[in-house]
Amino acid sequence: MSSKTLLLALVVILAARPSTQDPVFQVVKMGTSVAPAVAKSVPGFSAIDCAMKCAETTGCFGFNWLQNLCGLFNISSYENAWTFCNNCDAFILPMPQKKRAANCTQSFTYYNSNYLSGCESAIDGNRSQLTALCSITQNGPNEWWEVELVNATLIKYVTIYNRQQCCQEWLNKFSVQVDGVECNRVNLTMPFSVANFSCNVAFGSRVR
Ligand SMILES: *[C@@H]1O[C@H](CO)[C@@H](O)[C@H](O)[C@H]1NC(C)=O
Ligand SMILES: *[C@@H]1O[C@H](CO)[C@@H](O)[C@H](O)[C@H]1NC(C)=O
Ligand SMILES: *[C@@H]1O[C@H](CO)[C@@H](O)[C@H](O)[C@H]1NC(C)=O
Ligand SMILES: *[C@@H]1O[C@H](CO)[C@@H](O)[C@H](O)[C@H]1NC(C)=O
Ligand SMILES: *[C@@H]1O[C@H](CO)[C@@H](O)[C@H](O)[C@H]1NC(C)=O
Ligand SMILES: *[C@@H]1O[C@H](CO)[C@@H](O)[C@H](O)[C@H]1NC(C)=O
Repeated sequence: MSSKTLLLALVVILAARPSTQDPVFQVVKMGTSVAPAVAKSVPGFSAIDCAMKCAETTGCFGFNWLQNLCGLFNISSYENAWTFCNNCDAFILPMPQKKRAANCTQSFTYYNSNYLSGCESAIDGNRSQLTALCSITQNGPNEWWEVELVNATLIKYVTIYNRQQCCQEWLNKFSVQVDGVECNRVNLTMPFSVANFSCNVAFGSRVR
């Protein structure tokens, strides 16, 4: 998040794809009558064949195999209800284990001996909006705060707990980025206290 000044953020994480080159699929529904909407269908002669085709397809997170066709699912299948499948087995990449922050950094850390103004204050689990307990940068147009998650993850939105004692309107123009790609550009006319900033279905590990 590039921002004018201090902020405190929590990242909501829904799903992720293993980064290894050798994905292991789990059967999530056996003989099911519901499955995710298929993003793409390709010919396939077995479930193993479909697993290989899914692994080779960018954006494929799971598959089913039916009547010589592989139904490939994208990341939306983690979000949405399973909608159809004609009594097939569906396979999907397992959810990641680690949704935690690995580390964080920010453009500048405001100094006050009574304040915990480091980037960690935005992800320490304490959502207090007292200025002394928020991450604080300096005031300017190019300030930013960034967290790196242990595993790449689907980022649907970022919740920011803004400072409460004064100056909430300072955090009014900023962009939300996932792995360097902007997923939201915010330009507020009213100050906020706690708000969600959506990212659609960005996937990555660095949230700024
Ligand atoms: C999550 O990250 C850990 C530590 O880097 C790694 O060992 C593990 O394979 C990752 N898991 C997934 C599902 O990507
Ligand atoms: C995934 O596929 C579904 C069904 O085709 C589509 O509606 C959705 O937009 C796709 N989502 C992404 C993130 O590509
Ligand atoms: C997290 O640590 C890794 C390894 O030291 C580093 O490459 C990365 O830039 C750090 N991320 C953040 C957000 O500080
Ligand atoms: C947040 O931290 C402050 C200062 O350490 C503490 O007084 C307060 O109880 C904490 N709040 C929560 C919800 O943990
Ligand atoms: C923000 O919106 C205001 C109008 O509400 C506009 O005048 C201003 O140029 C916008 N700023 C940016 C950086 O988009
Ligand atoms: C953010 O979105 C989550 C999930 O939809 C919701 O539970 C939460 O209340 C929202 N928070 C705010 C401040 O809108």
